[in-house]
Amino acid sequence: MKNTFEHALPNSDGYFGEYGGSFIPPELEVIMKEINQAYIECSQDPAFIAELAHLYKHFVGRPSPIFHAENLSRKHGVDIYLKREDLNHTGAHKINHCLGEALLAKKMGKKKLIAETGAGQHGVALATAAALVGLECDIYMGEVDIAKEHPNVVRMRILGANVIPATHGRKTLKEAVDAAFEAYLKDPITQLYAIGSVVGPHPFPKMVRDFQSIIGNEARVQFQEMTGRLPDNLVACVGGGSNAVGLFTAFLGDESVAIHGVEPAGRSLTEVGEHAATLTLGEPGIMHGFKSYMLKDGDGEPQEVYSVASGLDYPSVGPQHAYLKDSGRVNYGTVNDDEAIDAFFELSREEGIIPAIESSHAVAYALKLAASGVKGSILINLSGRGDKDIDFVVENYGHKYGIETLV
Ligand SMILES: Cc1ncc(COP(=O)(O)O)c(C=O)c1O
Repeated sequence: MKNTFEHALPNSDGYFGEYGGSFIPPELEVIMKEINQAYIECSQDPAFIAELAHLYKHFVGRPSPIFHAENLSRKHGVDIYLKREDLNHTGAHKINHCLGEALLAKKMGKKKLIAETGAGQHGVALATAAALVGLECDIYMGEVDIAKEHPNVVRMRILGANVIPATHGRKTLKEAVDAAFEAYLKDPITQLYAIGSVVGPHPFPKMVRDFQSIIGNEARVQFQEMTGRLPDNLVACVGGGSNAVGLFTAFLGDESVAIHGVEPAGRSLTEVGEHAATLTLGEPGIMHGFKSYMLKDGDGEPQEVYSVASGLDYPSVGPQHAYLKDSGRVNYGTVNDDEAIDAFFELSREEGIIPAIESSHAVAYALKLAASGVKGSILINLSGRGDKDIDFVVENYGHKYGIETLV
């Protein structure tokens, strides 16, 4: 088996160029070093690699297939393919890194996994991994997201996790991260903060990236088997950036492959607090223990952010994306709420696949690329399925698409 854990960046201090690093209170420095050391050992341990590979195959159902979306392709005049991370056990890509983080926590003798969640997909995946390996699990979630993503809250509770509301500020993803960090600081010895994306202090952006790289490693082989060549374009949505970096990593050295990350333009790109387009409109800054692009308010604090997709409304982004933007290797664009919801219905009705609202941003962007005259093939990372979103979508947008509220 190919060792998927070897990549040139970050450097040993966790820097991708000027981004990344570790900006944390002194009491966490020793802990992060321990996590980094344990991760280095696990990533070189054939038994750890084999255990994870076994779980990917028999528990998650990997490899996830690539599907040629022929109806959409015909309609838009370009070949559209979907990497079906929505078919993973628990319904999204998040399980890829949660299993890795849970196995690592177990090896380190931790008792409890804690994490933030936005859309609830990371929370469900971590609660699932915790149940599987026998660890306690606390999930911090903004009150607004708890109401919006109700099915995932129920799933986490059934799986035995505690769901703890974040009640300050906008009560969404950033506030959930604040609350989880605070809880972690109280006991970093027996708990492991299993960060839900390629964000946070070193080694998390690297570790989560490595676990998610399986998406691109599989896709590269599958796509070549299906078509005899590499895709011309890759598209993935970017919240913290884990599903995107997971797909992109295997293709970064392929000059013929154009790579597109998609940020949420929400209700308006010109109004503060109405979007979460960090790479598009942000500037370098430090929050939650790492340096990256960041949306700042007048005082240099994180701006309020918004997106219809609970998993995308974060005022920073993984440091590797900041590096990839500055280097010009990846193009970052935006999709607004209405375009994402249109794509949600279009994929559902053209292909019989209901996507997560987060993933719908990637679908919408691919359709924009097609409309702009891009030729060849587009491989979209369908990061998750939309079961969690159906009540919210019908209630708020159903009338536009011929469905009235059902209850
Ligand atoms: C289905 C899905 N896709 C994408 C994301 C965004 O996260 P990331 O950018 O880390 O992939 C989330 C986050 O909750 C999600 O649930």
